[in-house]
Amino acid sequence: MSALLSPLGAPAEGTDLQQAEAAFHDANPGFRETAVIDALRETDYSRLDARGDVYLDYTGGSLYATSQLDEHLRMLHGAVYGNPHSVNPTSSAATILVEQARAAVLRYFNAPESEYACIFTPNATGALRLVGESYPFAPGDRFLATFDNHNSVNGIREFAHAKGTHTTYVPLEAPDLRVADGLLKRYLDEAAPDRHNLFAYPAQSNFSGVKHPLEWIAVAHRRGWDVIVDCAAFVPTSRLDLSECKPDFVPISFYKMFGYPTGLGALLARRPALARLHRPWFSGGTVVAANVQGEMVVPLSGHALFEDGTVDYLGIPAVEIGLRHLERIGIDTISRRVQDLGTWLLDALQRLRHSDGSPATRIYGPTKWDRRGGTIAFNFLHPDGRAIDERYVDRVASSHRISVRTGCFCNSGAGETAFSISRDTLIGAEFTDGMILDDYIRLVGMPTGGAVRVSLGLVTNFADVHRFMAFAAEFRDLRAVPADLPPRLAC
Ligand SMILES: Cc1ncc(COP(=O)(O)O)c(C=O)c1O
Repeated sequence: MSALLSPLGAPAEGTDLQQAEAAFHDANPGFRETAVIDALRETDYSRLDARGDVYLDYTGGSLYATSQLDEHLRMLHGAVYGNPHSVNPTSSAATILVEQARAAVLRYFNAPESEYACIFTPNATGALRLVGESYPFAPGDRFLATFDNHNSVNGIREFAHAKGTHTTYVPLEAPDLRVADGLLKRYLDEAAPDRHNLFAYPAQSNFSGVKHPLEWIAVAHRRGWDVIVDCAAFVPTSRLDLSECKPDFVPISFYKMFGYPTGLGALLARRPALARLHRPWFSGGTVVAANVQGEMVVPLSGHALFEDGTVDYLGIPAVEIGLRHLERIGIDTISRRVQDLGTWLLDALQRLRHSDGSPATRIYGPTKWDRRGGTIAFNFLHPDGRAIDERYVDRVASSHRISVRTGCFCNSGAGETAFSISRDTLIGAEFTDGMILDDYIRLVGMPTGGAVRVSLGLVTNFADVHRFMAFAAEFRDLRAVPADLPPRLAC
């Protein structure tokens, strides 16, 4: 059994954290190799324990180390930086740092500069928007996406529709929320010959934590597809090597990797695919020359064509600092730690039982640690099997200073599959004027407004997951929730 859990899954009475942790270490001897992270928790991240926060929303955003802030501030204090659109000394100083950071991003992902461009964007969503608005969709082309996708990928279908391109979704199979073997190939075989075909999927689901195979990239390429692999939820705890797999477009958000700076992401783009994109406009920063009277414009090429206006030239150097921080810890160390703690937590959640022996949780997605990451979506259950309202879970979690995510996590398709909502149900159900989200949830017959999502990351420790399970035990034998929960306003 998991380290010191009672038969009903709650931390066994009388066992304290130290005992439970010792048992966990005995069961996971390799975990000690990740001790560098425990040391960091006491220094670079001491604010977490000083404030008593249990942070379990790493898929929402990772946490920064104070040393990252110190180094960035030293950089800002130590020189004068100007707008990089000039050649004066302060401008050149900024340009050097921005280009150094760009090279560092490519190096980090082992992406040869001759093959990949790194375009700085505000976030992963900004990267996806660049692809969506610039992809040369036309009638007869194809846009294919898995049900499991962030809404920032789903939104590309609006650009496709506007240009007469049909969108097709590849369904997931419950309960694991993966795409069935063989099914994807059938969809990929439908590529339109001699047309533009774009396929999008996440390397790791922000809903279920499922890791979809990177091998799909080559399979899709062979059938004539350009491939977006959304790595926003994957790269914070997994290694991505772009010399091994070669997706055409990779959106990421840096705050999800190392917490700071927020407001910066990147589109890593394979140069031949990038050359196929057509920007719908031009702006300062993206042109060699433009005039007004002749309406002439000569666009720049490569990354410069996609970075509108002035880049965040004071923030971008902090990306290089963040990458160095991750490299010092080691992404494999982070993966290892997330796997060991995630396995413990997944097991503990499933062992949690009511007094009558009925399950107190329902997990959405893989229930074993198999081709998955440290994002776990689930609902607590009443003894009669109904899902406990996630707003109540949020309320109780907040009272314990526990940060988790609740709702649908911007992943409509995975949510629809997890909650068994069919196309027929949705087609009849209109979100009409005056409705709020709660009305719609009732209309489509969802059991509650969504799930609870716990996600592990960079500096999660055993105490975090242990405290979470002590909190989880409070939902055992809960028959009703208070009536005064706030209305749900957005998914
Ligand atoms: C898989 C995935 N894609 C895209 C995004 C969008 O990221 P951002 O909000 O930083 O643009 C997220 C955010 O959670 C995500 O998890």
